[in-house]
Formats: sequence, structure tokens, C-alpha cells
Amino acid sequence: MIEQTDLAASFTLPGTSKAVNRMGYGAMQLAGRDGDKFVWGPPRDVEQAIAVLREAIASGVNHIDTSDYYGPHVTNQIIRKALFPYPDELVIVTKVGARRGPDGSWIPANSGEDLTAAIHDNLRNLGLDVLDVVNLRSMLSIHGPGEGSIEAPLTALAQLQQKGLVRHIGLSNVTATQIAQARQIAPIVCVQNMYNLVQRTDDALIDDLARNDIAYVPFFPLGGFSPLQSAALTDIAARIDATPMQVALAWLLQRSPNILLIPGTSSVQHLRENLKASSLELTSEVVSELDEIGRTTNNQ
Ligand SMILES: NC(=O)c1ccc[n+]([C@@H]2O[C@H](COP(=O)([O-])OP(=O)(O)OC[C@H]3O[C@@H](n4cnc5c(N)ncnc54)[C@H](OP(=O)(O)O)[C@@H]3O)[C@@H](O)[C@H]2O)c1
Repeated sequence: MIEQTDLAASFTLPGTSKAVNRMGYGAMQLAGRDGDKFVWGPPRDVEQAIAVLREAIASGVNHIDTSDYYGPHVTNQIIRKALFPYPDELVIVTKVGARRGPDGSWIPANSGEDLTAAIHDNLRNLGLDVLDVVNLRSMLSIHGPGEGSIEAPLTALAQLQQKGLVRHIGLSNVTATQIAQARQIAPIVCVQNMYNLVQRTDDALIDDLARNDIAYVPFFPLGGFSPLQSAALTDIAARIDATPMQVALAWLLQRSPNILLIPGTSSVQHLRENLKASSLELTSEVVSELDEIGRTTNNQ
């Protein structure tokens, strides 16, 4: 049983004075659901959502991931209600590049006008004058990175940075080629793509970003809306007296020092469980067994 919670060592975003604990929190799960519209509208229990955020901060979390298109607007409004005025050390990372259709769809929105509106939506709903980190979320393909130029939207975002509305820029759902292109336009502090124990397309990219001190922030670290299910993971977790979710998170922390975690949950109990993964050390034998799960899944 893991008793201690220390949130793992901190990581300084490159070229910045922003140091965050490697164990953070992803706020997307705080919005509600309306039938098949996910991340839509208010949650069933707003007080519970507020409790999750306050518990995260009280436990030492200083990195929260969000977007104004969660809800839309709802998640940021809950963050503001729960945490404003924000602790000095808190880094709120948001993302732009999409908007929501009335049917709950996720629509590309990356013209200069769209991005300006999105930055102002985030500022207003979070109650801030400047955003710490903004990820440009590529929508060239919604289900995974798709090749294509991101020069125009990134240039527009860099202009908003030059106006003082954004401190630092990151990227999401991008390829290595797009990251290289982006770094010619503006310094990139973090990359947020889908990655977890069984979804390991970015293995080489993570190592490359580590060599450049750029943070890699996996989204869906627990598998997303349907958390990871694997008999092998369950067996390993039982053997080392941890939960499968804790093992999945600890594996990510050990995978590379530039990985920052933002597991999402709407439950205080799950939050506590997840934060404790920071103190779980996996032996190299266990890591090898866990690596095998990804290999088996990806070869199917
Ligand atoms: N850049 C992008 O395109 C993108 C896309 C998706 C997400 N994100 C960001 O990444 C963050 C993380 O992704 P995510 O929240 O979608 O997925 P996730 O962290 O992989 O998993 C969240 C799911 O796992 C469940 N869960 C969490 N802790 C658990 C535990 N200890 N035991 C059992 N179930 C548990 C949650 O349900 P409960 O609420 O019941 O705990 C929820 O269903 C998001 O919050 C968001 O900020 C970014």
C-alpha cells in the first residue's frame, strides 16, 4: 500500500521560470455530459468538482490542464470558482484550436480571429490578464496527429504572445515534423499528445523531446473515457499492493524525466489514489512486464 504522496520531482519548462511538480491534474472530466455530448454542460455535482480542485491544490498540485472548449466555458468557470485568487505557484495550461458545435462536436477553429477569441474566452473565464501556457491543439486530424502545416495558426498565436496575452506556447496532437516547424516560429515548452501504457506511438518523440528539455504531457494517461483494462496490469498491481491506475501512472513517471502527468478525474477518491502514484517505484522487472502489455496490444 502506498502511504505517501510527494507529487514526484519538479520539472522546469524550458526557457522559463515555471517549475511544476511532475504529477499534475487534468480538468476535462469536471464538465458534464448530456447524452452523447461528452465534456458538455455543467457536472451533476458542481460542489464535488470544486472539492476535487481544492483537494488537488491542497495536496501540492501546481499544474492544471484545461481548455475553454471543455463545457464549453464550464470547466474554466469551475476552476475560477474553486481556486481564484490563484496560488502564485499554480501553472494553468490551456489549449486553443477548436470550438464546440451545438451537437457537442469538436470543430477546428484556428484562424487568427478564432484564436484571438479563444484566448479572450480563456482569460475571461479563468479571470486572468495573461495565460501561463497555451497549447495550440492541431485539428488536422481529430483522432491523432495528422501531417500538414501549422505555420499560420502558430504565427497567430505567437502574435498574441507578443501582445502579452500568453506567456509560453505548447503544442498538442502534433507530429515531429510539426514540432520542428513550430520551433522555427516560437519557443515550444511542452507537447501534449495521446500516450499511455498501451498507446505508445510517441516513444521516439518523447526521447527526442527529452534531449531538448521539452515537456511531454500525455493526454489520456489512464486510457481516457474508458480507463485502461488489462489482466496483466491488474495482476501486477495486485502483486505490488497498488491499484492498476497507480501502476499506469507510475510507469509513465518512470518512462522519461520530461513526462508530466495530468490524469483526469471527477472524484476526490480517485484523485487521492492517483496522486499517490508519485511515490510508487517500479522495479526494472515490473517495468519490463508493463512494457510487454504495450507491445502485445500494439501488435494485435
Ligand atoms: N490535448 C488534447 O487533445 C486532450 C484530449 C483529451 C484530454 N486532454 C487533457 O488530458 C487530461 C487527462 O485526460 P482524461 O481525463 O480525458 O483521461 P484519463 O486521465 O486517461 O482518464 C480519465 C478517466 O479515468 C477515470 N479515472 C481517473 N482516475 C481513476 C482511478 N483512480 N480509478 C478508476 N478510474 C479513474 C476517470 O473517471 P472518474 O471521473 O470517475 O475518476 C475518467 O473516466 C484531461 O483532463 C485534459 O485536460 C487533452
